[in-house]
Amino acid sequence: MPSSQFGFVNPPVFHGSTVLFPDVATLRNRASQTFSYGLSGTPTTKALEDALDELEGSAGTILLPSGLAAVTVPLLSFLSAGDHCLVVDSVYSPTRRFCDGTLTRMGVTVEYFDPHVGAGIASLMRPETKVVFIEAPGSHTFEIVDVEAVCEAARKGGAVTMMDNTWATPLLFRPLDHGVDLSIHALTKYPGGHSDVMMGSVSATRETFPRLRATQLQLGVNAAPDDTYLVLRGLKTMGVRLERHGRSALALAEWLAAHDDAAAVLHPALPDFPGHALWRRQFGGASGLFGFVLKGDAKAGEAFLNALTLFGLGFSWGGHESLAVPSELSDRTIAREPDGGFLIRLQIGLEDVDDLRADLERGFVAARAA
Ligand SMILES: Cc1ncc(COP(=O)(O)O)c(C=O)c1O
Repeated sequence: MPSSQFGFVNPPVFHGSTVLFPDVATLRNRASQTFSYGLSGTPTTKALEDALDELEGSAGTILLPSGLAAVTVPLLSFLSAGDHCLVVDSVYSPTRRFCDGTLTRMGVTVEYFDPHVGAGIASLMRPETKVVFIEAPGSHTFEIVDVEAVCEAARKGGAVTMMDNTWATPLLFRPLDHGVDLSIHALTKYPGGHSDVMMGSVSATRETFPRLRATQLQLGVNAAPDDTYLVLRGLKTMGVRLERHGRSALALAEWLAAHDDAAAVLHPALPDFPGHALWRRQFGGASGLFGFVLKGDAKAGEAFLNALTLFGLGFSWGGHESLAVPSELSDRTIAREPDGGFLIRLQIGLEDVDDLRADLERGFVAARAA
C-alpha cells in the first residue's frame, strides 16, 4: 500500500534476521505475530507471496531460492517412506533426478505415467499413493495433461496433486481452479523475466498450505530480499511481456511448421498438435517456449545450433533473450522425442521476430551444409 510507505509505489526491501520484541510475553507468543524472524518472512517476501496468492487463487504461497527447490519442498512435505508417488513422464529432468535420487533413497516408490493418461490414472493409483505430480505442457515434448481428470482420480484415491505450472504462468492457467492442490513455479522464468534472478514458489489450497509452510521452515529455506524485489518488479510487466513472447513464438512456430527442413513442430497452439484440443479447453494462451524437429542427424543439429547468432545457446527460459538448446531425453521411458530428426527447444525472447526468423534460417543453411 503506497499510503503505508510514504507514498512510494513499490514496497521497501527489508534485509533482516532479528526481529525485536517489546517484552517477554510478546516474544513467547511470537507464533501469533506476522513477522518474528527473518527466515519465516519479511514484509518484502509477504508482498510477493500475497501477489502470487492473488494470481493463483491460493490460500498461501511459499518462496524458495530456485524453481527446483519449489519442486522438491512440496514433494518432501507430502511423502514418507513406504509411499507411492506418480509422476508424469514428460517432467523437467532435474525433477526426475530428485525423484529417482532423494525420494527413492527415502523409501518412496516413484512411478512415471503417460502424459496422455487422463482418467486412466485411476488404474495406477494404489492405497499408498500419496502424491500425483503433473507438469503441463511437458518439458521439451509439450504434451498436455487432462488436469481435471487426473486430479479427480487422485482426489478419489486420497492423493495430493502438484503441478509445475511454470510454462503457462498463472496468467494463462490457474491449476487450483482445475482441482490441483499445489501450483509450482520457477519464478526464474517469466515472473523474473530478465535472466538475472533465481527463485521458486509454491501456492497451495487452505488444506495443504500449513504442512507446506511447516516443511519450508523445518528445512530452513526462503527467498533473499533483493531477489524477491526483482521478482516483484518483474511481475508488473509479466502480462505485456508474455503477450509478446507468445505472439512471436506462435509466428515462428507457424513458419517452422511450413518449413521444408522441419519434420515437426511441438507447440500446443498449432491445430495439428496432438494435445491442441485439450490445451484450448484448459489454457488461456501459450507462452514463448516450444520445440521443433530439424530434419537430419546430430551433426546437422549441432551445425544448426552453432550457426545461430541472435539465439544464445543456454539453459533456462522466460527471459528477454532468445535461447536454443538440443533436447536430451534419454531418461524418458514413455514421452520420447518424435522420430524424423534432431529435437531442438526454442525460447523466444523479446527481439524482433523478423530478426529471429533470419537467425533460424542461418541455422537451416548451416544444417544443410553439414
Ligand atoms: C518446467 C521447469 N520447472 C522448474 C525449473 C527449475 O527452475 P530453476 O532453474 O529456477 O531451478 C525449470 C528450469 O528450467 C523448468 O524448466
